[in-house]
Amino acid sequence: MNAKYLIFGSTGSIGSNLANQLHNSNEDIHLVGRNEEEVKSLSEKLKCTYSIADVLEDNFIEKVKSDISEVKGIAYCVGSIDLKPLKMVTEDDFQKCMKLNLYSAVEVIKAYQENLKKNKGSIILFSTVAVQRGFTNHSIIGSTKAAVEGLTISLAAEFAPNIRVNCIAPSLTNSKIAQPLLKNTIMAEGIAKAHPMKRIGEGKDAAATAKPIGERDSGLGKRRTKKKAAKPIQKPLFL
Ligand SMILES: NC(=O)c1ccc[n+]([C@@H]2O[C@H](COP(=O)([O-])OP(=O)(O)OC[C@H]3O[C@@H](n4cnc5c(N)ncnc54)[C@H](OP(=O)(O)O)[C@@H]3O)[C@@H](O)[C@H]2O)c1
Repeated sequence: MNAKYLIFGSTGSIGSNLANQLHNSNEDIHLVGRNEEEVKSLSEKLKCTYSIADVLEDNFIEKVKSDISEVKGIAYCVGSIDLKPLKMVTEDDFQKCMKLNLYSAVEVIKAYQENLKKNKGSIILFSTVAVQRGFTNHSIIGSTKAAVEGLTISLAAEFAPNIRVNCIAPSLTNSKIAQPLLKNTIMAEGIAKAHPMKRIGEGKDAAATAKPIGERDSGLGKRRTKKKAAKPIQKPLFL
């Protein structure tokens, strides 16, 4: 069986664009998502296999592993934008955010670590520009994604030279999780203007950054792993 690229969060803005871009490059992909109707429809369009899994459920990874064993790349495109003023933040908020963005990603990586090593594969994780920039009400997601960046750098060292590990830190991107921010058109225009390209990012922007880094024979990925471990990529998006 040919090793495939495994995409978690495949129904999301970035995940679905990455799936499309890999498909257009004739790569074999396997989609993972929690909404069966959406995942099935995308898999029919892209003529690929899929698994249904909610990453917050116990043993979700066993279900995925029973569907696919050979992987050459994993993109964990699941995530959230949890925004609250610190006064309202609870420990439970942190737990939930860490579970979705970090702990479940760790479960996925552990499950495929040996197989990725065998296939000289790669892992792409997602942080946020807010980790390095600092925005108001971002204490939960900023801390959590900082942990994702820490995981990236640790695993890039631990897995080198067999598995490349990188992380992309997008700015605000047109997506389901960004709708609470983008539905306010005045706010959305203000955020767009604060960016060099004067627009909000699109899923295809981050996907186009992820694709060459994730691909097995990518010179970019090899060079970064060797010389600089895996400093998270700070918004090369739409710049
Ligand atoms: N969008 C932004 O502005 C932005 C900014 C910085 C960083 N990021 C990061 O970029 C990555 C991709 O996000 P995106 O922009 O593509 O947002 P998106 O379109 O909202 O996609 C998020 C994905 O996560 C999936 N997901 C959420 N909870 C899940 C669960 N419990 N089990 C399984 N899947 C679950 C969603 O599934 P459903 O389709 O079923 O909802 C969706 O496919 C995330 O890590 C995000 O934190 C995004």
